[in-house]
Amino acid sequence: MLYYRKLRSFDAAGFEAHLLKLDDADRRARFSGKVGDDVVRAYAAGIDWTTACLLGCFDGQMLCAVAELHADSALVSRGGEFAVTVAPAYRNRGIGSELLRRTILLARNRMIGRLHMICLIDNQPMRRMADKFHGQLDFEDGQVWAKLAVPYPDPVSLFSEAFTEGMGLAAAMGAAR
Ligand SMILES: CC(C)(COP(=O)(O)OP(=O)(O)OC[C@H]1O[C@@H](n2cnc3c(N)ncnc32)[C@H](O)[C@@H]1OP(=O)(O)O)[C@@H](O)C(=O)NCCC(=O)NCCS
Repeated sequence: MLYYRKLRSFDAAGFEAHLLKLDDADRRARFSGKVGDDVVRAYAAGIDWTTACLLGCFDGQMLCAVAELHADSALVSRGGEFAVTVAPAYRNRGIGSELLRRTILLARNRMIGRLHMICLIDNQPMRRMADKFHGQLDFEDGQVWAKLAVPYPDPVSLFSEAFTEGMGLAAAMGAAR
């Protein structure tokens, strides 16, 4: 059974292992360039768990997809960046789209008013996801920049995040038994 929960600092090793499993093409898609194991390890180690918001999709105890939300520095912009990786065996089942939907909720509840995501021009699934969530697409140097407007939080959005995280933690406890 698949379930979603936020990742915390104790998930750092699982996150690193998830990224290291990506092949060259996926790493190129994720990081927009050729990236070796050392760079992947340094990237995972560089996550600031106090500011970044990472959301995992688990199959039992296996982390099979991760969405990352990184708020832009400074209060000036109220923007944030979304990035996502789904393990190949789990693709084309709606997990990437579900992670984007949930990340929009997290951004909303953190007063992040705009999400941007960057992908290579040939990344059809990402472009489709951006379209589905009404992203505005800009093309530059072989890359697509998608910008999504995020509404203000309200009591329903706050409750929804707390409720879905509770469901995820309950599922995680069930999977650990
Ligand atoms: C991009 C990625 C996250 C998509 O994850 P996913 O779980 O397969 O996404 P979904 O199943 O939600 O599919 C998203 C949409 O793309 C469509 N799609 C999937 N594969 C496709 C393909 N090869 N060509 C065109 N459309 C495709 C799906 O049909 C879906 O559209 P729909 O809802 O209208 O049916 C995944 O392929 C991945 O991890 N790639 C490597 C890393 C990467 O590229 N990250 C993005 C940059 S940060």
